[in-house]
Amino acid sequence: MGIDLILGLQWGDEGKGKIVDVLTNKYDVVARFQGGPNAGHTLTFNGKKHVLHTIPSGIFHPNSLNLIGNGVVIDPITLKSEIDGLGSYNIDFYKKLLISKKAHIILPTHKILDEASEEAKGKLKIGSTLKGIGPTYMDKTGRNGIRVGDILDKDWKIKYLKLTKKHLDILKSYNPTKDYNLDKYEEKFFKSVESLKKLQLIDSEQFLLNSIQTGMKILGEGAQGSLLDIDFGTYPFVTSSTTTAAGACIGLGVAPNQIGEVFGIFKAYSTRVGSGPFPTELFDSVAEKMAKIGNEFGSTTGRARRCGWIDLVSLKYSVNINGVTKLIMMKGDVLSGFKKIKICTAYQVDGVEIDYFPFDINSNKVKPIYKELLGWDDDLTRIKNFSDLPKNFKSYISFLENMLEVPIEIVSVGPDRKQTIFKNENSL
Ligand code: GDP
Ligand code: IMO
Ligand code: MG
Repeated sequence: MGIDLILGLQWGDEGKGKIVDVLTNKYDVVARFQGGPNAGHTLTFNGKKHVLHTIPSGIFHPNSLNLIGNGVVIDPITLKSEIDGLGSYNIDFYKKLLISKKAHIILPTHKILDEASEEAKGKLKIGSTLKGIGPTYMDKTGRNGIRVGDILDKDWKIKYLKLTKKHLDILKSYNPTKDYNLDKYEEKFFKSVESLKKLQLIDSEQFLLNSIQTGMKILGEGAQGSLLDIDFGTYPFVTSSTTTAAGACIGLGVAPNQIGEVFGIFKAYSTRVGSGPFPTELFDSVAEKMAKIGNEFGSTTGRARRCGWIDLVSLKYSVNINGVTKLIMMKGDVLSGFKKIKICTAYQVDGVEIDYFPFDINSNKVKPIYKELLGWDDDLTRIKNFSDLPKNFKSYISFLENMLEVPIEIVSVGPDRKQTIFKNENSL
């Protein structure tokens, strides 16, 4: 099959970056298909940690090509600083990084609009990363956006000025007297656009078609998670793109019948950063322990992540919407030392038990119903083989597999590349 996908099944930060990096040696091309610098994908190897926001997580492998697809929104400033930050790695970005001419560009005013919109929402704010994601996708669907291919036109600044003026007019409705001092942002922005122009800007759907036809192996890298999907997430507390499997078709120009494996990634517990419903959220010492051991702080904003037990109702929903064929469980090591492990298997809404993800998920009335399993004390971080995992941890895995009806093929037991256990490497 043409392309496999890696997707987050929860509210993001499941560990997509780590797993894309681990699996890249099996692929020729790694392609990001949605989102933008709101993503923070962490890779750890040789004792060093790297956080990527726009660049696909296959970039460190010598033979991989890395594509930023048309569905991604690109902030030239972030992209430039990511490339500059990797200076010591001798990565040939002019050869290894490909960018779709159809990807939309985040302008300085998109970021200002994001902030103004959040501020105006007050208590109902989404908790956006304020990277300009929502306003940029709004201009895309409103047919006003500026695309990467546009910057190659010598007159593109006319388009830029027109759109910026429109944004400044909207900003006046938020605050008629505020001066946004655009000059400060624009100098850096235009410099970064010049750097972007020097990279390989291509018709990426054509490149992918050729790659598929010549038998190259492609891995689609998702950003965010299914519960942040613009349609199926906990709307309005979501991001502005299609984070689910269908988003890969839209965001890369690949036909649905070219999708092969859909790897669904989830944490052994749940986290969420930003506002919005989270039925299994905890506010006690268990949450504190998860946050501390799991180092649950946002990779993009540094904000503390909210923590709670695993939620199989929402996970099953994500598995179904994405057509997940193989599961990958991350951060199992963080649950070592808990006497009991709780698993949410149903919700109670208005006294009625339901086993599906309801429209009114935002209501405070959704209460999780838990099943309890025995915990384990062993340190998992040094274990290399599936058979050596503690019995109770294996029971936890089996329970989840039975409930989700999809096999868990990889178990991650630490942030490092090497702390990855394949149930059966030949099956991938
Ligand atoms: P992504 O956005 O899905 O790529 O995930 P993030 O990088 O934002 O967040 C995942 C965090 O968990 C990062 O700090 C990773 O280094 C870390 N991590 C990934 N897998 C594991 C694991 O199995 N165990 C532990 N303890 N940390 C992990
Ligand atoms: P990765 O790819 C976790 C959350 C924000 C906010 C909401 C909307 O690293 O998993 P936006 O910036 O899109 O306007 O924010 O979505 N969010 C993420 N949470 N991981 C991410 O990406 C996220 N990207 C956005 O916190 O609640
Ligand atoms: Mg992240």
